[in-house]
Amino acid sequence: MCGIVGYIGNKEAKDVILDGLKRLEYRGYDSAGMSLFNTRYQIYDVYKDQGRVDRLAQSVENSPHSNIGIGHTRWATHGKVNKANAHPHYSRSRRFIIVHNGVIENYQQLKEQYLQGVKFESDTDTEVIAQLIETFAGTLNVENAILTTLRLLRGSYALLILDQNNPDQFFAAKYKSPLLLGRGKEGITVASDLMALIGYSEEYLPLEDKTFVVASRDHIQLYDINHAPLQAKFSVIDMSNDDVEKGTYAHFMLKEIHEQPSVVRRIVSNYFDNGKSRIDAKILNDIKSSDRIYILAAGTSMHAGLIGKNLFEKLAGIPVEVHIASEFAYQKPLLSKKPFFILVSQSGETADLRACLVNIKEMNYPILTVTNVPTSTLAREATYFLELYAGPEIAVASTKAYVAQVGVLALLAYELSSKDFDIRDELTKVALSIENFLSCQNILDVTRYLLTHRNCFFIGRGLDYYTGLEAALKLKEISYIQTEGFAAGELKHGTIALIEEGTPVIALISDPKISHNTRSNLNEVIARGARTIKIVTSEVAEPGDEVIVDSVHPLLTPMVMVVPTQLLSYYAALERSFDIDKPRNLAKSVTVE
Ligand code: F6R
Repeated sequence: MCGIVGYIGNKEAKDVILDGLKRLEYRGYDSAGMSLFNTRYQIYDVYKDQGRVDRLAQSVENSPHSNIGIGHTRWATHGKVNKANAHPHYSRSRRFIIVHNGVIENYQQLKEQYLQGVKFESDTDTEVIAQLIETFAGTLNVENAILTTLRLLRGSYALLILDQNNPDQFFAAKYKSPLLLGRGKEGITVASDLMALIGYSEEYLPLEDKTFVVASRDHIQLYDINHAPLQAKFSVIDMSNDDVEKGTYAHFMLKEIHEQPSVVRRIVSNYFDNGKSRIDAKILNDIKSSDRIYILAAGTSMHAGLIGKNLFEKLAGIPVEVHIASEFAYQKPLLSKKPFFILVSQSGETADLRACLVNIKEMNYPILTVTNVPTSTLAREATYFLELYAGPEIAVASTKAYVAQVGVLALLAYELSSKDFDIRDELTKVALSIENFLSCQNILDVTRYLLTHRNCFFIGRGLDYYTGLEAALKLKEISYIQTEGFAAGELKHGTIALIEEGTPVIALISDPKISHNTRSNLNEVIARGARTIKIVTSEVAEPGDEVIVDSVHPLLTPMVMVVPTQLLSYYAALERSFDIDKPRNLAKSVTVE
């Protein structure tokens, strides 16, 4: 978590950095800070405080002109959320200034071994890095002082470093935490995510682990951790500002919900060429020769994985296990003889998944990463990679990436099946169904009822149960209403005790074979005072059902059924006046375990 941006070039550095930090705020928003060169006094100033980037923007409003600077937006890991722990951090003489994304696991040990007697200004692990550089700079030149420090660090880091004695350069380093270099006519930008480079760089380069960078106004030099020079191969950035701005929508989440039909269509057009699938035959062969698929993921992506299990088992007849990444990493189940691993992740940076990946690689099993970010760590380190084509997802609560994950897993399962239907047609119907729902359904009345309640339940059977889990996560994370998803038939085995007069219970009903069972479960809670709402497909709709979506292929139904629940969460948070795109305590890219 945390986002970092650095810039050197012809533009006003604070503008580039503020813009970048705003785009990176999804990575954390506990505090924000920046360091800029003060041409009048010939030193770097530091501006930082608790709170968001908007607040930082006010404090740098009248800062002197500067063409170089670094910035940070924080999600606290070590040390409380306060000004002292906000980045940038100084070294003791104020010579070095650094921003950091990652976690230094051995910071206590380094403190004891090398920094006895040094007075620290913060409780962060980051400050240790600044202090170590200063210690080594007593006898080494700046580059060697930084490299010596880097070689001592255990954990993860994306680092930007300024040196008061070298005001025409900044230094960057990367290990495990993402960092990308951008190059453009107006200068050099470096950031945790490609999004922060858009509009400022024409080309980008995702840095490899253990890379050290020295950047000046018109030159970039890359080194490995032993100071041996490296070649840089940049790629063209093919995104524009429109992809990362919310346009006429009030929130990114609403924009992303409305983008879902085009995301589904984009998946179809990117994965087919004249009716022929573009999925690499090697992936299909590896899966076919395996005896079990293991899907690993976290949060919303794990919920997409649960749908994926159903798709692979029903369409391809391959047994699948779905595991929460943070559990799998340290509590491996007994594996089958020939496992195939699928890591599902919007960001491709989730640390819990990276821990799994390292583990699986040691066992030499094939890994496929399904992610939205082709430049991400998981995409680059896996054996294979499939892109979600959802476009940048900026709201912390995932919506379009979830629908894309289900879509891409469906395509993969379909390619492994006997193909007795045309998935392109079926996905096109999904896009249409979502579009219809978004254009005519009003979910606000239903939502208002939730406002007066502190808790809520989603129930469903089969695939609807999985959609219910995702719906519950979405509602609780942005509206802070305590919400749980349950298998409808399981309520009566305990949870029904929580139903009181007026408790909202939202049923998801799409499967005609079991719809009457779910409706019976609804009657059981109505008898105990619950207020129920039904979200159903047109195929199973009955008079009085509140929310209806057009039916699609039964296995793709979750892609449609989830949409009303996303809107419901959105409006519930809106009515409660919460910060929809940046819910409390969360960050989008969870790069710590
Ligand atoms: C919820 C949400 C999270 C993520 C989870 C995994 O709306 O977005 O639960 O799904 O943190 O993140 P990724 O998919 O980036 O690995």
